[in-house]
Amino acid sequence: MRLLKTVEGLRCWLNRQSGSVGLVPTMGALHQGHLSLINRARRDNDLVVVSIFVNPLQFGPNEDLAAYPRTLEIDAQLCATAGVDCIFAPKAEALYGSQFGKATALCNVEPPAALTHQLCGKFRPGHFNGVATVVTKLLSLVRPQRSYFGQKDAQQLAIIRRLVKDLSLPGDVIGCPIVREIDGLALSSRNKYLTGQERQQAVILYRGLRSAEQKFKEMGMRSQHSLTSIVLQYLEAAPAITPQYVELVDPYSLAPLDEIETVGMLAVAAFVGTTRLIDNVVLRAR
Ligand code: PAJ
Repeated sequence: MRLLKTVEGLRCWLNRQSGSVGLVPTMGALHQGHLSLINRARRDNDLVVVSIFVNPLQFGPNEDLAAYPRTLEIDAQLCATAGVDCIFAPKAEALYGSQFGKATALCNVEPPAALTHQLCGKFRPGHFNGVATVVTKLLSLVRPQRSYFGQKDAQQLAIIRRLVKDLSLPGDVIGCPIVREIDGLALSSRNKYLTGQERQQAVILYRGLRSAEQKFKEMGMRSQHSLTSIVLQYLEAAPAITPQYVELVDPYSLAPLDEIETVGMLAVAAFVGTTRLIDNVVLRAR
């Protein structure tokens, strides 16, 4: 496995390879969620490239850029064991140029407001521009046959699908299911921030979603109001949890839904202590 830190090194390595390439973009601190994407990429492609880059452009001024876990050595071991061919782990200057952080203007990819002004985008202005910009760069550099993204970050996945389509970026976007702890908590690099008590309560995001899913499946509950109310009831009963949003949207267009006709995504964001967590379930009528 190669560990490359420069764009030139990556280009040079890619030029010497043949066969299909699967790209798994990450910010590191790898867990089983990331590994599920890597395993899928391993199955589908001749070569697997994992990028590990804590992208400053997608963090707001009051977010956790400095504190975000950076565990490159452990990540590299996990990748080697998973059969990854190449890790691309540049510093910000190596990816964005030596003027990064000094010059104010950098070309910036701005997805449509209809996709970014919903859900997390309402609370994280500029976040999805930062995601779209780095993903555009990574796809343009690696030119994979396929790229892999988790349903865990459902808004990100919807935006990247549109980005790749609208800008004709290379490769198919493959969405992968959410990997959870045994109790149901969605795996996230940010779970590391939780205290023991917060960790116990964090699972309530999933319990609320599960309960709404059950009512949808067993009782045919389909309205936005009743489904979101169930989730909110769970969140409000937990002292360490402060809900940010609970919404029912179309999983592709992210347009708010009053009622599920064919498919809807119930999505939640909440602070557990000071840690912001997200989760979702897709509800499909048969
Ligand atoms: P990061 O949070 O490291 O996540 C990398 C990929 O892993 C994303 O596609 C995310 O949806 C997926 N993932 C995370 N937790 C998961 C889980 N529990 N189950 C399944 N997939 C999971 O998302 C980012 O990084 C960045 O925004 C990035 C796309 C790399 C751009 O900087």
